[in-house]
Formats: sequence, structure tokens, C-alpha cells
Amino acid sequence: METVNIIGAGLAGLSAAHTFAKNKIRSRLISLQPSERAQSVMAEGGINAALNTMGEGDSTFEHFEDTMRGGAFLADPKAAEVLTEHAPEIVTELFKMGTPFAMKGDSIIQRNFGGQKKKRTAFAKSSTGKVIMTALIDEVRKYEAEGYVERLDHHEALEPVLADDMCIGVYVRDTFAGEAVFCRGPVITACGGLNGLFEGMTTGSSANSGDFTAACFALGVNAANLEMIQYHPTTVVVPGKRMLVSEAARCEGGRLFIKRKGDPWFFMDELYPDMGNLAPRDVISKTMTEVVAADDTGDQVYLDLTELPRGTWNKKLSDMRDEIKEYLGIDPAKEPVPVTPGIHFFMGGILVDKDHRTSVKGLYAAGECACQYHGANRLGGNSMLAAVYGGKVAADSLIRDAVYYKEVSECQAVPEAPEIRCGFSRELSEILGQGMGIVRSGEGLERALKHIDELKDECNIREKRRLYLAEAMLLSALKREETRGAQVRSDFPAKDDARFKKTTVAVFRNGKTEIDFKEIGQI
Ligand code: FUM
Repeated sequence: METVNIIGAGLAGLSAAHTFAKNKIRSRLISLQPSERAQSVMAEGGINAALNTMGEGDSTFEHFEDTMRGGAFLADPKAAEVLTEHAPEIVTELFKMGTPFAMKGDSIIQRNFGGQKKKRTAFAKSSTGKVIMTALIDEVRKYEAEGYVERLDHHEALEPVLADDMCIGVYVRDTFAGEAVFCRGPVITACGGLNGLFEGMTTGSSANSGDFTAACFALGVNAANLEMIQYHPTTVVVPGKRMLVSEAARCEGGRLFIKRKGDPWFFMDELYPDMGNLAPRDVISKTMTEVVAADDTGDQVYLDLTELPRGTWNKKLSDMRDEIKEYLGIDPAKEPVPVTPGIHFFMGGILVDKDHRTSVKGLYAAGECACQYHGANRLGGNSMLAAVYGGKVAADSLIRDAVYYKEVSECQAVPEAPEIRCGFSRELSEILGQGMGIVRSGEGLERALKHIDELKDECNIREKRRLYLAEAMLLSALKREETRGAQVRSDFPAKDDARFKKTTVAVFRNGKTEIDFKEIGQI
């Protein structure tokens, strides 16, 4: 088989490379930054699997149910089912690779996490992504030595190369030498979320610009559920981005409050007695905007961690405490931390089927750039799981589909790859930030669309592609005339299953974006 091109060296990309290597198939890991600096390293709270180590009678079916409910029933149930069924195997494999999960005796300890009824999140303090990545990087390194994995770090994937509606390779630029080349072979994109469209507003890595996804979209690859953007309730504004205060803090007993008539009001405890501070993220973020807007409250929400026992800080959250002290100058064990919802995850992206095939033959997608498992809102702890599992499934599917790549011809013409201008990025982010906030309205979305249209004339090709994707995002939110998960419409406050329990599919055709609502599971 041709060497496979994998775009992105985070969890999903590494997992795909590992799967190919185990099958003695060569892959090329193409990434702007080395794996050690991938966004996956920043993942904090944990990874979900119904290991049932906490004596709660947990099951993969309950994990499936929580995933579907948390995603407001927009996830592909077939995909969510296999994901949750395979979760124990995935976490056990990561453990065997050397991931130092928190343990009691021989058993992996599991913590509560948002939107879930059972303790099923395996963790390593609040640095779970870092330790999983370390184990996986080491594992893949063995295969690098054998020549099965070639690394192209500091290389940027520019666009997929399509011929006769099939993906036959990718254009890649060496960011040090400046040269661009054609890398022939099938492609798995694991290029991460769309952070570049929301500069400074996300907890994610700015290296995950979304430009490769935008290029795919502009070349006709179907995208889906682009309106579903997760606002994490507890972020802090720091220069250039949002700092995440992991959900782990609330899982260990942290509570949100706002001042009301001078006293702290623990609004989540009062308004959601069932799940309280561990309600799904969409619910908490929306509630935070409501309590801040109320007449008799202050305008700042705080996370109170002052009642956490010393043992919890030492054993489970010491890294988080150090981080908050360092970046905010606050000791969270002694004073409440001011927090605000910030963009954390893109549930939408490149539409894939349950085998991670996109709408274009030869092109597969996995990890945050792919849309499938999380519906209208992702559960905390499911992203690393979906990345590891998705990378593996995409690789397995590609191996099965190998027949497609027999007749691939050479292709040399390298396209122009201008830089995104800094002012452009900021302007686009401001427009999108206003249109695609936690609460949206038809009027606000129309206004944002108009602004985007005005930007088009002066843009280079790369900027235009971002604009097309941004437009698709706004149009998806505009056409979904309901409130569901991360899509909250002030002008359509109810859920409308009859019209919208469907996937929002965005297609770029003849220079225009078309939005369609398709049955869930179709690509
Ligand atoms: O809050 C967190 O630790 C985030 C975890 C996740 O998004 O899965």
C-alpha cells in the first residue's frame, strides 16, 4: 500500500500511525508542531470508559446513554455505541503502554465528570492528556525506528489533492525551508479543531487553525454540525487565549457561585439539584450567562474550591493549583477563582461515517476535526477517547479500503499558500464571537453573515477559505431554528425534534454554501 499521510501528530494522528505500524503499513505524520506540543498534551481532566472499578455497577450501555443524552441526541448512535463499547479496551491498552493513571491497588480509580451518572473518568491529576501522549509517543517511537512511521514535524498540510472526486495526496509545506511538496497517498486528517476562527477565544492550541479543514471544505468535502461549539464553563482570560480550569475541580467538589444581594448564591446547586455543578457544559454555560444577566446579581461568577480537603489538592489537583497560582496569582485553596465560559471544543467539523470515511474517497478524518460522536454537546472525558478510538478506526477502514489506491498518478503542481494576515484573523474572530456566542439570534447571525460578505473582496485564497467555513458555521446556526445542546437561539427557545433531530450538513458547491438537514448517520 502507498505510504499513508496523516495530518496532525496529536492523539488521533498517533493512534492512526500506531495502527498502521502494527499492520506493517508505513505512514507519514505531518504536523506543524511535534507530538510533544500537540493540543492533546493540554487535555486535563481524564478519559472515559465504563471500567466499573468504583463499585457502582457501571456499564458501557450507560456510558452510551450519557453520551447520547449529553449530546442532545444528535450524535450518530451507531458510532457512539461502538465508541463506548470499545472504551474499556482503549483505556486498558493505554494503561498497558505505561500511562500512569491514578490507581488504588491494581485498579484504575475513576472520577465523576460532567453530564455522567457514574464515576467513569480515568485520570492522572489534571494532566491526563500529557501522560497519555507521553505513553503513546514512546510506543510509536519503536515503529519510527523500524521505518514504519516517518515524521514531518514543522510541516504544514496545505490542502488535499483531489482527482476524479478522490483524494490522492496532500500538498505539504516545510515551514523552515519554505518549500512545498506533493505527498502522494491516501490521507487521514486529524488536524484538530477550528481555533483559528476564534483567535484568542479558545482553550485550544492556535496551531490548530482549522485551515486544513477549511481547505477540505472549499474543495467540496462535506462538513456537519458546524454550529455546535462547546463553551466550557470554567475558563479564565489570559493574554492570547483562554486558560482552562478543568472540570476536575468541580468533580472533586468545586462549586460555582455569583454574588446576590451581597451573599454567594450557589446557583447550580439550587437550579439543578440533580446534577448540580456537574451538569453538561452547555447547561452550565447557558445558566452562567443567565445569572450574570439577572438584575439582582453581580457580573462575575466564581469557582469556589476553598472547601476541598487537603488530600484532594495533594493527590488529585496539585498541578491545577500550581497553574492557577502561577497564571492568576490566586491560591484556589484559599480564595475563589473568577471564571467565565470560553470556547473549548468543536463538535462539528468534517462529516464522517462510523468508519471515519468522509464524503470523498481516500480521505478520512478523526479527532476534533471530525464530526460524529458528540452530537450537540460533548461530554468531558469523551474527547481523548474519541481521538484514540477514531484514529484507530480510520486507519482500520483505510486498510480495508486499500483497493482504492492502485491507480494513483503523480501530481506536482503546488498551490499558492499565502499567510493569514493578523488583522484579518482578529476581525473574523470578532465577527464570529458576536454571531456565535452562547446565545444566538437570527438577527445577530444575519449581521455576522453580512460582515463576512464584506470582508471577501480583499482576501487571499487562504483567508477566503476561512470565510467560507465561517459562513457555513453561521448559516448552520441560522437554519437550525431551535435550541439544542450548544445551539441556543433566543428567537427559537424550544427543541424541535420533528424538524431538527438531524445532522446539519454544509456543502460548498459552485462558490456557494448549501445547508441541508440529513438523517443522522448519513454522509
Ligand atoms: O475540563 C476538562 O478537564 C476538560 C476535559 C475535556 O474536555 O474532556
